Amino acid sequence: MIEEYVTLETLLTDSVAKKHLPKAGYAHAVATAENAFELAIEENVCVDLASKAGLLHDIGHTSWEHQGKWDYESYREFDIHTIKGAERAHELLTLKGEDLGKARDIALAILFHSDSSSVSQNVKLTLLQRLISDADDMDKQEGGEHHRVKIDYTEALQRIRRLDMLIYRHIKYNQDICEECDWSSECKLNH
Ligand SMILES: [Fe+2]
Ligand SMILES: [Fe+2]
Repeated sequence: MIEEYVTLETLLTDSVAKKHLPKAGYAHAVATAENAFELAIEENVCVDLASKAGLLHDIGHTSWEHQGKWDYESYREFDIHTIKGAERAHELLTLKGEDLGKARDIALAILFHSDSSSVSQNVKLTLLQRLISDADDMDKQEGGEHHRVKIDYTEALQRIRRLDMLIYRHIKYNQDICEECDWSSECKLNH
């Protein structure tokens, strides 16, 4: 049953997510989770892993807004949000009881989702890691405007609950695809 698993709602409603997700924006976090879910279905990647990594991919951000604009100069020079995000997401996931293999795969997808820091250089991405980078790019706007699109917390929660239901249904009705995953162990499809 869905209650036995770490859901997107469990993650979104945690105080760590509430503190850090608004910095890059709920709108971008939710849109990237939705994009990741769609891409995961198209590419036969585990929808559970993809949606969680999409939701949390920018949890490592600090605010780069300066005088109402995204300060790209400082961002390019000093940003390490992929590193902070991977660690922060891993801590949140394991705190909620996530399977350790899944927590590792989600954290690594976050670590490599952007080339803003040098850790991504010369890395051969897995399917999941490439997918999260693509899901992120699908929502990007010129000048970092996607970080300034506003939705309120209630809308974010509603869309995340809808996604939780879609994930649950997909896994339930696609046992042939996701039986290896079983929502409790590492999904082989990502390797
Ligand atoms: Fe990012
Ligand atoms: Fe992003």
